[in-house]
Amino acid sequence: MVNDTGNIHSDRVQALIAQMTLDEKLGQMNQLNGAGGAVSEPLADAIRCGRVGSIINEVNASTLKELQRIAREESRLGIPLLIGRDVIHGFETVFPIPLALAASWCPDVVEKTARVSAIEASGNGINWTFSPMIDIARDPRWGRVAESFGEDPLLSAALGAAMVKGYQTDDLSGDTAILACAKHFVGYGASESGRDYNTTNISEHDLRNIHLPPFKACSEIGVGTFMTSFSDVNGMPASGNQYLLDDILKQEWQFSGFVVSDWGSVQQLTVHGVAADDEHAAALALNAGVDMEMVSETFIQHASTLLQKGVISQDTIDQAVARILTCKFRLGLFEGAFISGSDSVLPIEEHFEAAKQAALKSCVLLTNHQKTLPLDKYSIDSIGVLGWLAHDDYEQLGTWIFDGDTHRSTTILQGIQNVASDEAIIHYQPVFSSSRDMSVHGFCDAKRVADESDVVIVCVGEESILSGEAHCRSDIGLPGAQVTFIETISEHLSANNKPIILVCMAGRPLDLSPVVDKVDAILYAWHPGSAGGQAIAELLFGLHSPSGKLPISFPRTVGQIPIYYAQKPTGRPVTSENYAAMADFPMRAEQTSLGMAASHMDTYFTPLFPFGYGLSYANIQYAKPELSSQQMHSDETLLITLKVTNTTSIDAEDIVQLYIRDEVASATRPVRELKAFKRVVLPPQSETTVEFELTAEALAFYDANGIKSIEPGYFTLGVGGDSTCELTERFEMV
Ligand code: GLC
Repeated sequence: MVNDTGNIHSDRVQALIAQMTLDEKLGQMNQLNGAGGAVSEPLADAIRCGRVGSIINEVNASTLKELQRIAREESRLGIPLLIGRDVIHGFETVFPIPLALAASWCPDVVEKTARVSAIEASGNGINWTFSPMIDIARDPRWGRVAESFGEDPLLSAALGAAMVKGYQTDDLSGDTAILACAKHFVGYGASESGRDYNTTNISEHDLRNIHLPPFKACSEIGVGTFMTSFSDVNGMPASGNQYLLDDILKQEWQFSGFVVSDWGSVQQLTVHGVAADDEHAAALALNAGVDMEMVSETFIQHASTLLQKGVISQDTIDQAVARILTCKFRLGLFEGAFISGSDSVLPIEEHFEAAKQAALKSCVLLTNHQKTLPLDKYSIDSIGVLGWLAHDDYEQLGTWIFDGDTHRSTTILQGIQNVASDEAIIHYQPVFSSSRDMSVHGFCDAKRVADESDVVIVCVGEESILSGEAHCRSDIGLPGAQVTFIETISEHLSANNKPIILVCMAGRPLDLSPVVDKVDAILYAWHPGSAGGQAIAELLFGLHSPSGKLPISFPRTVGQIPIYYAQKPTGRPVTSENYAAMADFPMRAEQTSLGMAASHMDTYFTPLFPFGYGLSYANIQYAKPELSSQQMHSDETLLITLKVTNTTSIDAEDIVQLYIRDEVASATRPVRELKAFKRVVLPPQSETTVEFELTAEALAFYDANGIKSIEPGYFTLGVGGDSTCELTERFEMV
């Protein structure tokens, strides 16, 4: 029996299962791809015969209404369909990509974006989204870093749980609540060399301390489903990995929802070479704990034979069906009226505003030399806007925007036209046709625009297709001739000291080393969604101060990858004192004379921009944190308070971060770990007291034997504006 303690639907589920034939049970475990907006007869028949439990990728509201009607009125038991869709960061209204949302460090913002997404998607008849994606991502070469919440387990866990709440609300049977899906379980972000679908080798130590925590948080908050990753995880692909799906997820965590395979990943077990054929693949996946199969149909084709052979048990089938039906009952689908369809009027302005607020909090100010920003709209007569990314209503939406409505987009150029003074003359030149464009033909026009402008805003980056699934890069530099263009414009303008502002749109951290000193300010906007252009313009002109902070480290060069703040100390840590640059090595230097530390000779050892980093227009000061005690017991909580001061007349928000270091433990521990964060509002000339509660449980970790424990010993602690803050305090766990 499924662990149905607390499953209020258990009786109805079991009563229904008792009526179901084997084929009908296998039908519930079968997800088919939509028919592109029409009700195909084969699909209608399959639904009538009870061979379909879910449809993916159908979004035509009237088609969905008809498919549900067929399921409810023309199939023998009238079991409704789960309608799945990748509503990853918005539906018609598109929010910043998840990596950008992570830069807001704001669970409330993330929850709101999911809530609006669910309202729009459910209005079309969708009742299941394959989101949040909470794979820990520390390799910007990997295209799916765009969908992640970045490199840190605590931040990813907090934002993943917030997204689940936004989709599901507290009542999954509510009209606009949709089922969420924690994916891709697990460790997909550890794909070797940042190549998608590639092998992952993850120690139990890292699995437990890095990759699993966000998934555990989503399981604990009640996410309805999990999705397996494509990955080979330590020798067994996730879709056939019983240790992950059953031992950890269903037994240890007592997860009561259901597990869906990723697209074709059950059948791919034959490609991985752990299954001889589709029947064997179905057996592996069913016995491992996959409950529903996404589109590869091995369950519906082979499970009855496997049952007859005794390779799988009836209980395995019944448990899977119980989990799936429980979700359908939780969603209220048996009671729910057919969907309202897309004729429901959506408050587009309200949704656009939510998208703007998310973009405002997601943009990260990386540099701002001589306080070039914010721009004073009243002292600027002409503005040069250069780069085709400044005016492309599609590219700013980012990856995974199947249903994004480009008519809702405000581009950067449009935003500047909205925000700049009515008298300002705004010149625009696309310069390129794409980020991969190598032509320099647009440079002359760009120089002419620059000459006619008081300030130049250069918009660069990657088009959306250069990140996302299967779109990985071996280099993370600005593509095409963009670096050459920035150098050219910078040199051209250096004579008359005109400010150049770089706005970068991308789905990953890019290597900005070649340009970081060629421009006066850099605003990293990621792919900021429908309202991105308006938000960027409002930030550039100081209507708001930037407050985003990096959820992922920015490498100086691709050769540094993987580089992340929570590195282990190693036995020979590199410091600014012992670092030796390649240029410093004299000819015939003695072998052990210089640089005997964990570093690269040809690249300084720190990232270009660290995790948690982001500038503000305000000047924010952090006082020394005060601890409620210098000692704590394993059942106690430490209170940390500090004053944060805004010494300027600028309204600001900041993300105050608390890091600890476990000085000595039974296994190596990171040189620092994020343990708490708070986004705080800092009015002009204000002093704000910030409090953190640090529980002993927060200091627990899985040791070398995979046992989670709170170990006695000393910890150092620091609070500041990014991961480089000094660890100034010390306390003892006794
Ligand atoms: C894709 C992705 C997964 C997505 C699914 C359905 O291949 O890996 O994230 O939800 O298929 O589109």
